[in-house]
Amino acid sequence: MLEEEYQATHRPKEAQRNLPPLQVPFEYTIRDARLQDLPDVREIYNHYVANSTVTFDEKPMTLREIRSKFQHIVKLGMPFLVAESPSEQILGYAYVYPWKEKAAYRFTVENSIYLRAAATSKGLGKALLAELITRSKAAGLKEMIAVIADKGADASIAIHKNFGFKEIGHMGKVGYKFDRWLGTVLMQKSLK
Ligand SMILES: CC(C)(COP(=O)(O)OP(=O)(O)OC[C@H]1O[C@@H](n2cnc3c(N)ncnc32)[C@H](O)[C@@H]1OP(=O)(O)O)[C@@H](O)C(=O)NCCC(=O)NCCS
Repeated sequence: MLEEEYQATHRPKEAQRNLPPLQVPFEYTIRDARLQDLPDVREIYNHYVANSTVTFDEKPMTLREIRSKFQHIVKLGMPFLVAESPSEQILGYAYVYPWKEKAAYRFTVENSIYLRAAATSKGLGKALLAELITRSKAAGLKEMIAVIADKGADASIAIHKNFGFKEIGHMGKVGYKFDRWLGTVLMQKSLK
């Protein structure tokens, strides 16, 4: 072993005591998304497009597409939130989008929540969904629907159940991705 390698792995006790703790606390703030967050939002989402069946998209989302969705949501006065680390990295996002365009559906939205892979299973999903629900109520929305893949989306089903979403339907074999058929579980929560 070279002297430098030895020094790096065998620090004197005194130096070790001054080392920062290995586990850095998981901290974040939740705020409204801004236009400049959208490249990060896109990167987070496209990870799941390429590597999972939690979304049925197969082609990466373009910046133009997410920008136009963001602008539509903001125009409607609906929430589009991001969670940001103390070093200003976007860790995840959540938004609601009109369930359907026809006018009578105007109080009903579909939610969408995606976290950077390294930020999952630490309670951030819970925090973002709680804030999304609060902000949706404040915007006058009445019903929220989650459309969840019936394979490989256990965390999503668990979190929605925990927030009182009730399963209202299951569509089998409506999607085909990575050479297999997939269905969707529909879950609904009243915001009244
Ligand atoms: C789904 C998602 C938003 C959940 O957020 P999260 O921060 O990972 O979850 P949390 O740590 O807040 O945990 C929420 C609940 O889900 C449970 N959970 C988390 N990961 C799980 C898993 N892999 N399987 C089963 N349950 C799981 C937790 O135990 C917790 O329940 P509890 O409060 O009873 O303990 C996040 O995992 C994610 O972004 N996943 C990939 C994208 C995705 O699936 N989005 C939803 C598309 S519909």
